[in-house]
Amino acid sequence: MYLAVKLGKLTLKTPIICASGTFGFGEELKGLVNFKNIGAITTKTITLKPRRGNLPPRIFETDHGVLNSVGLENPGLDVFVAEKLPELKKFNTKFIVSIGGFSSDEYEEIVRQLAQFEEIEAIEVNLSCPNIQLKKMVSQDKTLTYELLKELRQLTSKVLIAKITPEVTDIVEIVQSAREAGVNALSLVNTFYGMAINIEERKPYLGSIYGGYSGRAIKPLSLYRVWTAAKTVDIPIIGGGGIESATDAIEFLLAGSSLVSLGTINLVYPNQAEQILKGIKDYMKKMKIENIDELRGGLIV
Ligand SMILES: Cc1cc2nc3c(=O)[nH]c(=O)nc-3n(C[C@H](O)[C@H](O)[C@H](O)COP(=O)(O)O)c2cc1C
Repeated sequence: MYLAVKLGKLTLKTPIICASGTFGFGEELKGLVNFKNIGAITTKTITLKPRRGNLPPRIFETDHGVLNSVGLENPGLDVFVAEKLPELKKFNTKFIVSIGGFSSDEYEEIVRQLAQFEEIEAIEVNLSCPNIQLKKMVSQDKTLTYELLKELRQLTSKVLIAKITPEVTDIVEIVQSAREAGVNALSLVNTFYGMAINIEERKPYLGSIYGGYSGRAIKPLSLYRVWTAAKTVDIPIIGGGGIESATDAIEFLLAGSSLVSLGTINLVYPNQAEQILKGIKDYMKKMKIENIDELRGGLIV
């Protein structure tokens, strides 16, 4: 059975990717996870300077999903390079460095610096953080998306992935702009905007009032967006949003994603990739499918 998948010029041993912000920098979970099931881990988004993130509470669990307003807490680029990067190389899997910024210059500076490290093979450009009080996320605007990614493309030949928000009227025009700018893959979707209110106190549960909603509840919403996007672009899509089981993952593959990302589920079962990969293999066996690539876009309509 062939489970390896291409992500630009990289080959990942399985189609399962751990989503940014739910897997730290890998080392936090290393005793709990069997990396042989994971095609790649994506780091927490790093920014040029360290960030302390938003006011607590920053996580609130609802009945079917999770609200978070972490606000890109991270140690910053220099500490990442000095302390996290050497560790990332030791895991038995590929890694993707997620980056974020507050201006084009910041994104460009990070890519320029990361470009010097041969061991970094892939960069995910987070254009979709809902928790940093920007008027607009970059991936809510097709022109901003195109212009920023075009600049970044010129700075590196590493695999570039654009992480897109679902919070747009037409996701197709956004993914097409990213594709035109020359990225190698798309990662969709990031969280949806959401909030929850404590009615006794009449106060929001999150310190920053609203946040990003993720987990099981968003799966049909994200699946629809992945399916819509996959019909219009010819580059690999890392599809996710609410994946918890092998069935969920297979749905995303059938909808057209080449790879799947696990996010919120990592907060509960960090080794869930094992179950999911086993379920995918069982399904392939049952369906007499030899190569995982044959599943991609296999939805019959
Ligand atoms: C606590 C938490 C922190 C997150 N931090 C980031 C982040 O730093 N960068 C990013 O691109 N996405 C971040 N995300 C979004 C996830 O990577 C993922 O795209 C999203 O949660 C949807 O997938 P899921 O429903 O499987 O969690 C975060 C999600 C959660 C729950």
